[in-house]
Amino acid sequence: MQDIIYATEDYRELDAYLAENGIRSAMLVCGSSIRLLPIGRYFQSLEARRDIRITRFSDFQPNPLYESVVKGVELFNGNRCDSIIAVGGGSAMDVAKCIRLFCGMDKSQSYLLQKAVPNPVRLLAVPTTAGTGSEATRYAVVYLNGEKQSIADDSCIPQTVLMDGSALRTLPLYQKKCTMLDALCHGAESYWSVNSTSESRDLSETAIGMILDNMEGYLANREDANKNMLLAAHYAGRAINIAQTTAGHAMCYKLTSLYGIPHGHAAALCVSVLWPWMLSNIQSCTDPRGETYLRDMFRKLAGAFACREAFEAAEKFGRIVSSLRLPALPADEADCGTLCSTVNPIRLKNNPIRPDHKAIESLYRQLLVGENPTAGPE
Ligand SMILES: [Fe+2]
Repeated sequence: MQDIIYATEDYRELDAYLAENGIRSAMLVCGSSIRLLPIGRYFQSLEARRDIRITRFSDFQPNPLYESVVKGVELFNGNRCDSIIAVGGGSAMDVAKCIRLFCGMDKSQSYLLQKAVPNPVRLLAVPTTAGTGSEATRYAVVYLNGEKQSIADDSCIPQTVLMDGSALRTLPLYQKKCTMLDALCHGAESYWSVNSTSESRDLSETAIGMILDNMEGYLANREDANKNMLLAAHYAGRAINIAQTTAGHAMCYKLTSLYGIPHGHAAALCVSVLWPWMLSNIQSCTDPRGETYLRDMFRKLAGAFACREAFEAAEKFGRIVSSLRLPALPADEADCGTLCSTVNPIRLKNNPIRPDHKAIESLYRQLLVGENPTAGPE
């Protein structure tokens, strides 16, 4: 179980964390935007205030490369760091998780081919967006020779998370909308995932309820709502750590790379066409728990969205996405073929009704040109 601590203005909780864990030399994995954040100022003065050495590592990019992680591991070991603090969004978390996982391994071989061995290095995560929930998951992604390398290991889960609502204060509004939608998709997809458990569905319900309750205040940049949204995204992250994401996420990655739109925007577009499609094709259930379970699950999911009927909740999700007035996709119907060919089949398996190629094409067409999908699974 992770420890969650909540930041106050002077970060005395962080002082206490460092003291309690006997930390003397920490690696700070962060993006350049840390300089704009109150926590950035905390770390600037930390070395002068306390006998702690900080090794800062920012030499990585979004969708981090394996080579960057290797540099981070060298720096970690070279400077004899005893712990890692990750401040940032998904990329900083990915890099920090990998450094922790790889730092005790044999450097003469690829870290990606070695068996993970638990190590005592402490990892503290400070998420600076309310979206990925990466601080709660055992997953990390790095790229090697242009290929995505997915890592899943319990050692990736940070032992402690610091919730710092002030980190969201300066985020651009579009980014806030997209990260919130990512968390809402995590909540919904983990709920209907074939891997869901009663624990994961409880976490999803909590996340969805908190997102809906705090959306308005969060978009208005209210401090309390920002803090609650961070926590909501964290719960959604814990839900996907158990149940994983489904067809919505499987379909969204290529939208991001093809049109350059943020991940949460792409995921929300996919979920807004996927959800009604599933409700129209519920008789083709592939969840081993069966069709009755599935109908009941969709009804309970509607309850989490404060709706009585399953279709009503899917419509409500679509209305939330449209109400955010996200920029239109520079889309072309001719892209449907490219999009269909890149859907990750492993994530599709998590979906309780598996869309076939024809259905996926139809769903993409609907989100690109607003055409109503009729194709069910064969
Ligand atoms: Fe996501």
